[in-house]
Amino acid sequence: MKKILVTREVFDETIDFLKSHFEVESNQSDRIFGREEFIVKMQGKDGVQTSSSDRIDAELLDKCPAIRAVCNTAVGYNNIDIDACTRHGVMVTNTPGVLTDSVADYSMGLVIATCRRMTEGEAYLRKGEWKGTFLKQMLGQDVHGATLGIFGFGRIGQAIARRARGFDMKIFYHSRSRAAADAEAESGAVYIDKESLLRKADVVLLILPFTLQTQHFIGAKELALMKSSAVLINMARGGIVDDAALIEALRKKQIWAAGLDVYENEPSLNSGFLELDNVVLSPHIASASEPTRKAMAMTAARNLAAALSGADPPNLLNPDYRKFLKP
Ligand code: GLV
Repeated sequence: MKKILVTREVFDETIDFLKSHFEVESNQSDRIFGREEFIVKMQGKDGVQTSSSDRIDAELLDKCPAIRAVCNTAVGYNNIDIDACTRHGVMVTNTPGVLTDSVADYSMGLVIATCRRMTEGEAYLRKGEWKGTFLKQMLGQDVHGATLGIFGFGRIGQAIARRARGFDMKIFYHSRSRAAADAEAESGAVYIDKESLLRKADVVLLILPFTLQTQHFIGAKELALMKSSAVLINMARGGIVDDAALIEALRKKQIWAAGLDVYENEPSLNSGFLELDNVVLSPHIASASEPTRKAMAMTAARNLAAALSGADPPNLLNPDYRKFLKP
C-alpha cells in the first residue's frame, strides 16, 4: 500500500477516505511540524496532503525522493515551488472551484464591515462606551453605488463582481489578461489599467495570485494614488501588500480604511495594525464555512488518490511533471 502524510488536521471523513486507499500518517492533533521534523515525516512517503502553511521546495524534494504528489488543501499554492516539483517529476494540485462562493460571500462581508465600521462599533459597545445615538455617530462609507476595483479576475474575482452588482456598485477590474466577453458581461465589470483603477475606486479589492511579480503589488506608491476616502480589501495573500506601507497610509489617513483577511508573515501580525481603528482584521478564514472546508479537504484527498493511482489528478497544476519522470 502506498504511504501518505496529511500535514494538518482534516475531517474524519477525509481520513476515512484516505485510509481506504493508503497507509496514512495523519496529524489530527494539529501540531505544527518544525522544518526538520516535516522532512523526516515526508521521507518514504509517496504523497502528501498539505495546507498553505507547509513549504514545499527543492531542498525538501531532494531529501524525499519517494514523493510523487503534493496535494494542497487550498486554491492558492504560493507555499509550493511548482518549478522544483516539476523538475522532480512531482505532481502538484490545488482545490479550485469548491471555495469560490464562500470566499466571494466573505469578501462582500469584509467590504461592508470595513466601509460601515462594524467591528469598531462592536468594540465600542463591548467597552460600554455607548451612551446613545447621535447624528454624526460612526459615520462610514456607503457600499451601494460605490465604485469597486478588483485586482484579479479569476473565478473568485468574478463571483465577487456578480455579488457587487446586486449592491449597484460600478465595477472595474484589472488582471494579467483580460477576461472573456461573457464573463465581463455577466458581472458588468469593465477592464481598466492598474493606475486608473487605483485612482477611481472607492473600494480596491485584491484577489490575485501571489507570485514573484505580485510581491508588494500594493505599496506606498500605489496607496498614494488611492482616494483619501477609499478602502483597501485584501482577500488574496499577505506579501501582495506591503503591510508597513499600509499601516503608514492608514495612520496618516491617506486612505480611509482597510479590511484584511491575509498578512505578510502570517500568523504573526505587524503590531502596527493593532493600534489602528480604521482596519478590520480577519484571521485568513474567507473559505472557512463548514461545507466548504470539508469540500476542500475531500478535493485534495481525491486529487491524491487519483495521482497515486497513476492517473492525472483532476486539479493538476503542472502537467510538465511528466517530462521529468524517471524511467
Ligand atoms: C485560501 O487562502 C486558499 O488559497 O484556499
